[in-house]
Amino acid sequence: MKIEELLEDKGLVCSNILHALPEWFQIEKSIQDYALQAEKLPTFAAKMDNKIVGFLTLKIHTSSAAEISVMGVVKEHQRKGIGKALLEKSEEYLRKKGFKFLTVKTLSPSIEDENYAKTRRFYQANGFFPLEEFKTIWDENNPCLYMVKIIDQNENDSHPL
Ligand SMILES: CC(C)(COP(=O)(O)OP(=O)(O)OC[C@H]1O[C@@H](n2cnc3c(N)ncnc32)[C@H](O)[C@@H]1OP(=O)(O)O)[C@@H](O)C(=O)NCCC(=O)NCCS
Repeated sequence: MKIEELLEDKGLVCSNILHALPEWFQIEKSIQDYALQAEKLPTFAAKMDNKIVGFLTLKIHTSSAAEISVMGVVKEHQRKGIGKALLEKSEEYLRKKGFKFLTVKTLSPSIEDENYAKTRRFYQANGFFPLEEFKTIWDENNPCLYMVKIIDQNENDSHPL
């Protein structure tokens, strides 16, 4: 398995993988929005036998914080360390540019959903902490859990706004 930054077809890769994950992504408009955004954002892909089996797209917010806009690994290759490898590559990319925090928004545990429970376990196992629930940022049927990971521990740095 190889992780590399994608420089073209980012939207297509995003759309193909999200369509292959209907247990997590059902709303066509959201898939299209993620794909449109991915076109312009730093995106990493995991390749196996020259086939892309996972991806992660980063949204840059400030000089210190970036967000996982969206990520996904096709079901047959989940739980093989690909998500973790995508995260590690993204964190390395961000640390080199001086970023301190990586955030992600995912479905809150206040809605029972076994698939997103797995997603949260992935983030928790990989150093993310739950910060706050936003009940209506998406819509009232999809409360959002905001999570953060410190990706650079140097406490003496200060960053301009
Ligand atoms: C979440 C996702 C990206 C994780 O990728 P992955 O390649 O399956 O995860 P990894 O194999 O790298 O997991 C790394 C560690 O995270 C934890 N983890 C991952 N999946 C888990 C699960 N289903 N249950 C419990 N822990 C889990 C484990 O500690 C795992 O290490 P281990 O297998 O040695 O125990 C992937 O499962 C996925 O695409 N899910 C559907 C889409 C999604 O939820 N995207 C995020 C939207 S916000």
